[in-house]
Amino acid sequence: MTGKITLGPMPYMSVMPAVLVGSNVKGKPNYMTAAWATVASMAPPMVCVAINKVRYTAQGIEENKTFSLNVTSSNQVIETDYCGITSGSNKDKSGVFTSFYGKLGTAPLAQECPVNIECKLFSSVDCGSHLLYIGEVIEIHADENSVTDGKPDIRKINPIVYAQATYFDVGAETGKAFSDGKKFQQ
Ligand SMILES: Cc1cc2nc3c(=O)[nH]c(=O)nc-3n(C[C@H](O)[C@H](O)[C@H](O)COP(=O)(O)O)c2cc1C
Repeated sequence: MTGKITLGPMPYMSVMPAVLVGSNVKGKPNYMTAAWATVASMAPPMVCVAINKVRYTAQGIEENKTFSLNVTSSNQVIETDYCGITSGSNKDKSGVFTSFYGKLGTAPLAQECPVNIECKLFSSVDCGSHLLYIGEVIEIHADENSVTDGKPDIRKINPIVYAQATYFDVGAETGKAFSDGKKFQQ
């Protein structure tokens, strides 16, 4: 056993996805990079993302009550980082990706991203600096070549993984979920 040290409170999570939050702000698509995004509920399907109150994106979500989470691929690091260091309040980011719209009509979806999660705002929780936006998933749009047996395929998507101010891709498989645990012996 190694000894433990305390590092103090911080918003830490081991790995995070780098996704693009799409929203229409003043009628124009805007994409913002977010790492603080995850699943919130299975039934109904919901995802959530923590967005700083000062972000231009927050204005768009409040305006339309819709947003998208666009899953990025490892060959999109430059565009992804650009959307994380540039604010739509200073620079028009509508041309970074080709936008299309799904069922909701107001959540822009990035054509170049392998998977687009189209969300209707369910609720927002004021956590302090950030609002946790919880969205009901209305539709998943996926590139044909990123899907296997009707589900997004991580190997084909090759999503960007974010940790420690660095982008990684997905590493090697280390086991089978909901299965390997059966081998455990007390
Ligand atoms: C890798 C990365 C992850 C980020 N994650 C978040 C996040 O989860 N929440 C957030 O509010 N800002 C996050 N940011 C910062 C925003 O993407 C950045 O402030 C962006 O310029 C905001 O765009 P907007 O003003 O057009 O909405 C992240 C930036 C980077 C580079």
